[in-house]
Amino acid sequence: MPDSPALPARVVGAAPDIAASAPATVLAELSKPGKPISRALVGVFFEDISYSADGGLYAELIQNRSFEYSSADHLGWHAFTSWELVKRGGGRGAVAIDRALPLHPNNPHYAVVRAEEPGEGVGLLNTGWDGIPVRAGEIYDVSFFARQCFMGEMWGPDSDPAGRPMPVITRLEGPDGRLLGEARFEIAGADWHRIEGEIVAVATEEAARFVLLLGKQGGLALDEISLFPRKTFRGRKNGLRADLAQTIADLKPGFVRFPGGCVAHGNGLGNLYRWQDTVGPVEQRKGQPNLWGYHQSVGLGYFEYFQFCEDIGALPLPVVAAGVCCQNSAHTPGRCQHGIPLAEMPAYVQEVLDLIEWANGPADSRWGAVRAAAGHPEPFGLKYLGVGNEDKITPGFKERFRMIFEALREKHPEIVVIGTSGPFAHGEDYDLGWAYATELGVPMIDEHYYVPPQWFWDNLGRYDAYDRAKAKVYLGEYAAHEPDRRNTLRSALAEAACLTSLERNGDAVAFASYAPLLARRSHTRWAPDLVYFDNTRVYPTLNYEVQRLFGQNRGDLFLETGVSGLGDAGEKLAASTVHDLASGDAVLKIVNGGASSRPLRIRLAGLPASSRSAALVVFAGADPDACNQDGQAPAVRPETSTVPISEDFDFLLPANSLVIFRLPLPR
Ligand code: AHR
Repeated sequence: MPDSPALPARVVGAAPDIAASAPATVLAELSKPGKPISRALVGVFFEDISYSADGGLYAELIQNRSFEYSSADHLGWHAFTSWELVKRGGGRGAVAIDRALPLHPNNPHYAVVRAEEPGEGVGLLNTGWDGIPVRAGEIYDVSFFARQCFMGEMWGPDSDPAGRPMPVITRLEGPDGRLLGEARFEIAGADWHRIEGEIVAVATEEAARFVLLLGKQGGLALDEISLFPRKTFRGRKNGLRADLAQTIADLKPGFVRFPGGCVAHGNGLGNLYRWQDTVGPVEQRKGQPNLWGYHQSVGLGYFEYFQFCEDIGALPLPVVAAGVCCQNSAHTPGRCQHGIPLAEMPAYVQEVLDLIEWANGPADSRWGAVRAAAGHPEPFGLKYLGVGNEDKITPGFKERFRMIFEALREKHPEIVVIGTSGPFAHGEDYDLGWAYATELGVPMIDEHYYVPPQWFWDNLGRYDAYDRAKAKVYLGEYAAHEPDRRNTLRSALAEAACLTSLERNGDAVAFASYAPLLARRSHTRWAPDLVYFDNTRVYPTLNYEVQRLFGQNRGDLFLETGVSGLGDAGEKLAASTVHDLASGDAVLKIVNGGASSRPLRIRLAGLPASSRSAALVVFAGADPDACNQDGQAPAVRPETSTVPISEDFDFLLPANSLVIFRLPLPR
């Protein structure tokens, strides 16, 4: 028997009850051959919910930049929502929304501002989403489309028939009107053209506003008025908010699923998410209502999603509608699934095939050329495609799914299609969805479950006896829901326990993503979420920490791990070990969902003599109710240290904890 040092228990928070029970044993088989599992197991689910895209991850700072808001987005909204007409220093003028000569048919509305008497400026003001955050010394890229109005638009003949250029000032101002920076332009000509410049902020302001002023008598048509911080994630144009994108990148997600969730299949047939409307120049994209109660500009569209995946080394996992809209459309749960008319299905199927060409086709193919024109001539390497999102499994769904699936199988056998099995872990749609997918030979199925923390503990064996000959599982949406929907340590640890079971079954479960990912504070439509944010801060939750710890401690092989000697059948203890071939390390994760610390005997069978210390992460708290959903700093943080290990040692596992041992194995 090798020496077995008794490691000091690392206890965070108040002293726990030390369980009187005999030690349980966690046995990790380090030298037996491991079972290959999915290295991309832990990924993220991105849906534009709770202002995750516009007003969130998408770095645009102007709200309703293209004047396309309407009451279909949100009761009471209209094309001028979030804008104001401003008249400064004796200025007189007016604004109207027009659609007579649009920039593009997909972007039909624009503003026409007329300065009858310029005074110190007549124009438009926008306050972004709860104000525009600016930082001293940072550069902001301003751009807009404009054309001079000379004749007959809205108010009759223009007052400046000589057609001299229109001076325009764009300004960032504090809430009190204090100037924070400006850029000046001259607009000449009656044709739409893009204007761009930069504003350097001279002061920091959390809730600034953007103002665009006409400097002389006359009229201007304006559209797609945009303001981006120069510092986007990886400096991308039309890019992502750097802090939020980095928070996602820090998860080291194996994949990113987008654009939903329910957003993918939409509120009614007219609201399906059509990928091709979200690529190409942003002013030509076709925004639409978001079923979570606001507008999707689709400025964050398929190109940006794919580029983000590439930037963070994650697989892209898009989901297209299965030719049907959400069964909960029109506020009628379960009864409003409608299918694209069968006569139109061939065109829809072609849209799905076109997506593969857009993502993977050569730069001189029809859709590959669109990707190349956006700056990405190389293929994106799409391998997985979801078809359908927790749809009700009806004859109408089946017929349309089959059409899409068979076309993909024939034309693109290299693409792994992911089918759907309804919104719950069990029940009619689950059974029907699996049966139909099995009948068709669909290679992977998307499962969803939002369930209480205890459910995860009770179902850790869900995939153990799973028939490996069947389709692989993508656990596309899951989260532990407390009755009050808070992000507690209890829920985070239940998810951690679930993740150990998914690692153990990583040969059957290919992917798993917590849902939803992001939510803007004060605009949250769904709880819990993984990460909350406001204009200037990001608030990762305790659940995020668990996802991050698993994402950063992934593996390629599952090493047999046993837990024995539990006090009773209900004891909450789970463990798994993976071998990360990239680093050569073995990673043992142990979760204690109990309220007492737990004496453990840890046996690392086959531990090489050269391995006598491990990096230890302890994520533990005395209070399972600890929660930071309200924007507070996490009450519990992972603590790291280096500890001695041996083939057989004692360890006092803290109450309410996830602990991770990372130790090198010989290469
Ligand atoms: O994740 C939030 C929602 O939950 C998704 O849009 C939907 O697929 C599920 O019902």
